Amino acid sequence: MLFGRALEDAELMAGVDIDKVWAGVAGSHITSFNSKGMVAIKNHEVQKDDMRRVIEAAQAVALPEGRQILHVLPQNFAVDSQDGIRDPLGMSGVRLEAGVHVITGNIMSLQNISKCAQRSGLHISGLISEALASAESTLSQDEKDLGVAVIDMGGGTCDMVIYVGGAVVHTAVLPIGGAHLTHDISVGLRTPASEAEEIKRKYGCAMASLVQAGETIEVPSVGGRNPRTLSRLTLAEVIEPRIEETIHLLNNEISKSGYKDLLGSGVVLTGGGSLLSGIPELGEFIFEMPVRRGIPINTTGLKEVVQSPALATAVGLLKFGAANQARAIEKASGSFVNIIKNKVANFLDGAF
Ligand SMILES: Nc1ncnc2c1ncn2[C@@H]1O[C@H](COP(=O)(O)OP(=O)(O)OP(=O)(O)O)[C@@H](O)[C@H]1O
Ligand SMILES: [Mg+2]
Repeated sequence: MLFGRALEDAELMAGVDIDKVWAGVAGSHITSFNSKGMVAIKNHEVQKDDMRRVIEAAQAVALPEGRQILHVLPQNFAVDSQDGIRDPLGMSGVRLEAGVHVITGNIMSLQNISKCAQRSGLHISGLISEALASAESTLSQDEKDLGVAVIDMGGGTCDMVIYVGGAVVHTAVLPIGGAHLTHDISVGLRTPASEAEEIKRKYGCAMASLVQAGETIEVPSVGGRNPRTLSRLTLAEVIEPRIEETIHLLNNEISKSGYKDLLGSGVVLTGGGSLLSGIPELGEFIFEMPVRRGIPINTTGLKEVVQSPALATAVGLLKFGAANQARAIEKASGSFVNIIKNKVANFLDGAF
């Protein structure tokens, strides 16, 4: 039902009929690993086909039952003994190796997304990791090159993607999100969940020390009792421990990944949960790195509308879809096609 409503709203807003979608996939069922592959270079000079074969070889690992590959992201290549090559095309050698990051999902969960779309009369063009989509829309190439961790703080989970040297080297999902915080506020302030959600968005702050003494908020009560006036500091004292715990867990995950010292661009927080006031400040304190909020970048057209971390995933999915469409057209090849490709790319760019 919800899917149908979202579809209607999107069609109305964009003024187009939607029959195909790039669907985002998120949740704790997503897992990932790094893998390596090796092939002989056919004509002793690396061709596109050698690169395709080595990436294929790198993903040829036995997956646990019930899992499906979502993405195979090339990291870097090695030609004979020379490693750390980003683009080996045209290089001479005998042996080509590739490192890849593989993201997998639970087949049942992925099927449920497809079923959901089909029931609304939609065809799935592709399934994309939401964390990857958010990273795609919020990070610059420089940040990816220099090393960065992007964390998409959603309702149910925090999804992390780490880039080093321009490539994805680590991804992780933490089963804590904004909904847990709302629950804490609901219990802590004894107010209904819907009110707790509104209070969190309006008055919430991740760091009690950032709240001015004397600031007050009105809190609706449960069971027909009168609303109460509470200090905003009390609310911050409920929020701070949960966010502190969440950021500590994220920090542990970054340390465990082994890439912490390589994150020259620090941490980017995105997703609806990152809108909480004071969260970058607390983040900098715990991560001991620069922290910024991630909003969609390089967008034209609907720029004003999408300038929010809560829309990072949606914009990222659009970018994936647009890039894929452009690639598909390129494959059809020919100079005539290039003209069309540019036109489609311009059109899709204008859709943002
Ligand atoms: N201004 C705000 N302050 C604090 N939290 C906020 C604010 N706006 C939204 N949120 C929280 O962000 C969360 C939703 O974020 P988002 O829309 O990115 O999640 P989602 O993508 O639907 O969820 P998930 O990624 O877990 O599937 C909710 O928990 C909501 O309470
Ligand atoms: Mg999300």
